[in-house]
Amino acid sequence: MKKSTIAWMTLLIGLVWISACDKDAATITTDNLSLAGKRLTAMTRELHGSRDNPRSLKMDELVLVKSRDWTSGFFPGCLWLMYEATGASVWKEQAAKFTLNLEAEQHNGSTHDMGFKMLYSFGNGYRLTGDSSYKAVLLQSAKTLITRFNPKVGCIRSWDHHQEVWQYPVIIDNLMNLELLFWATRHSGDPVYHDIARTHALQTMKHHFRKDYSTWHVVNYDSTTGAVINKQTHQGLADESCWARGQAWALYGYTMCYRETGDTLFLRQAEKIAGFILNHPNLPDDLVPYWDFDIADKSTEPRDVSAAAIIGSALFELCQFPVDNSSLYRMKANQILENLSHHYLAKEANYFILSHSVGSKPSDSEVDVPIIYADYYFLEMNLRKMRLDKADVNLTAPAEDK
Ligand code: GLY
Repeated sequence: MKKSTIAWMTLLIGLVWISACDKDAATITTDNLSLAGKRLTAMTRELHGSRDNPRSLKMDELVLVKSRDWTSGFFPGCLWLMYEATGASVWKEQAAKFTLNLEAEQHNGSTHDMGFKMLYSFGNGYRLTGDSSYKAVLLQSAKTLITRFNPKVGCIRSWDHHQEVWQYPVIIDNLMNLELLFWATRHSGDPVYHDIARTHALQTMKHHFRKDYSTWHVVNYDSTTGAVINKQTHQGLADESCWARGQAWALYGYTMCYRETGDTLFLRQAEKIAGFILNHPNLPDDLVPYWDFDIADKSTEPRDVSAAAIIGSALFELCQFPVDNSSLYRMKANQILENLSHHYLAKEANYFILSHSVGSKPSDSEVDVPIIYADYYFLEMNLRKMRLDKADVNLTAPAEDK
């Protein structure tokens, strides 16, 4: 064969390959939303009339939880995100129905999980509909949450259980609940919520991080003096290991704190946390972490898809802020999205979008199963990518209006 023919053939193959990749990138979010639509429809049908919301799957049966469970807001959250993505009223009706299952939680002061529960259900509902009854519930929820703040410690107390083990436990996950407090100040004008959230975030920066920006899961404080008593784990491999979802919460949490405050201290923190995750020698090539960054045997330990979805969604937000590694973060987020979409989907007969998450390995609970919060952050990731890609199109589009 002539050299010129070979060169033309190579070029042609290259063009076909590039156009297939482009098509893949363009259709990945629409395919994911279409799959999500099918799975969530199956779930809502199965749950018809239920006062409990779904959390995970056990032996192919849905595991339902009462509103007090920290995961109860994610299912209505998924339904709200589907409404946002499609504008179809059926999603709004279903989302509103499952959101109301959580109404009593606004007065539940026995938990720090208020943000997880109320922001994704009532918060998304208010953002997308402007319904003032949702706003009232959210403000009451924030009021209830700050009753758990101890000014001496400078943090919101996470758990009330195991008082024989921890005097005043604060877990890294708790950062995620601060978003509700930032929201409450913006919508009430009362600075108290914002101040508490900022104080908690600063105190967590001080005590939850090692020099390499990995996290301790639980910091146990002395409630009278505010001194740190000890640092441990509850869902990780060891006190000195780095639990993958905890690290994911930290990345998402500080990215959100920067969004809400504009304080670059939080942005720098998020960049350092991203650096720890993305450069870790135990992070697999497909960027879906093992359930703990310090596992010893990669051949037997499960991945945690929920951590990957949280990291991916956080990176899609972080890449839009003034950071040195913006394009790297965006590229990594795209890779996570592609890998989850191609290799970690739940089985056809499933109600969930993704599988292979880990709730708590040390308790042998929800290991390598679908879990609703993985689906929530996966959907959020898809929406964030769609907005980001569209913003690019707008930036390069001719300025028709001028
Ligand atoms: N407490 C939230 C989690 O398990 O990640």
